[in-house]
Amino acid sequence: MSLPSPDKVPSHAAIIMDGNGRWARQRGLPRIEGHRRGVETVRKITEAGRELGLRTLTLYAFSVENWKRPPEEVSALMGLLEFYLQKELQTFVKNRIRLRTIGRTGELPPGVQKHLNHTIEATAGFTDYTLVLALNYGARTEVADAARDYAAAVAAGREPAGESSWAAFSRYLSTAGLPDPDLIIRTSGESRLSNFLMLQGAYAEFVFTPVHWPDFTKADLAAAFAEYARRERRYGLTSEQLAPPAK
Ligand code: IPE
Ligand code: IPE
Ligand code: MG
Repeated sequence: MSLPSPDKVPSHAAIIMDGNGRWARQRGLPRIEGHRRGVETVRKITEAGRELGLRTLTLYAFSVENWKRPPEEVSALMGLLEFYLQKELQTFVKNRIRLRTIGRTGELPPGVQKHLNHTIEATAGFTDYTLVLALNYGARTEVADAARDYAAAVAAGREPAGESSWAAFSRYLSTAGLPDPDLIIRTSGESRLSNFLMLQGAYAEFVFTPVHWPDFTKADLAAAFAEYARRERRYGLTSEQLAPPAK
């Protein structure tokens, strides 16, 4: 597995983990079995991300829209999440992985919240590598919440009235303090954002892979990084501006 030069490795990769259900259906298994295998992939890819040079890995684990799935699937997913958090705490501490969340986590079942808060506290001091779980996350909900909180801050005199800046507003998003994603990967062949990091991904590079999440490996992650390394990120400038010709 050859790696791109360090300056071409994304610092923050975000993954829309998709295809658990189809992975299971193709094998004649219940959807939840796909989610169970998906949790194994989360473990492996968390480790792989660090080995490949990431500083931040964000995983889209549950969207605000996912509550509309059959209740048995939702409760199975919440059960798996709680089990995962309980089991991973020691690994997070041992491997010095900081856990963070984005999304309306206050609406998750109390058991999940308890484990989340415990793990977040226990890993708060680690700075090298951060795993961000997007839980009950939706970009539109996030922006609406931020607008409400920003307006309240203006009303209370904590923010200047009549001004408008992304730097000030973005501090009210649930991603406050996190860098924007450099790379957004979606598995399972779908090419859509599904309400994920719509503003923070403004200049992210996108890689779509047909692999279903339970089958996604470190080699697939490295391949996405290699694709990222071939891209030229122009941020509105011209190629010539980015690499002025040698005189
Ligand atoms: C992703 O796999 C996991 C979640 C959204 C929680 P899916 O469950 O969406 O799998 P497909 O898309 O039905 O195959
Ligand atoms: C997006 O996947 C949400 C997560 C990966 C958690 P979905 O499977 O819910 O997205 P759609 O419904 O296919 O757009
Ligand atoms: Mg899906």
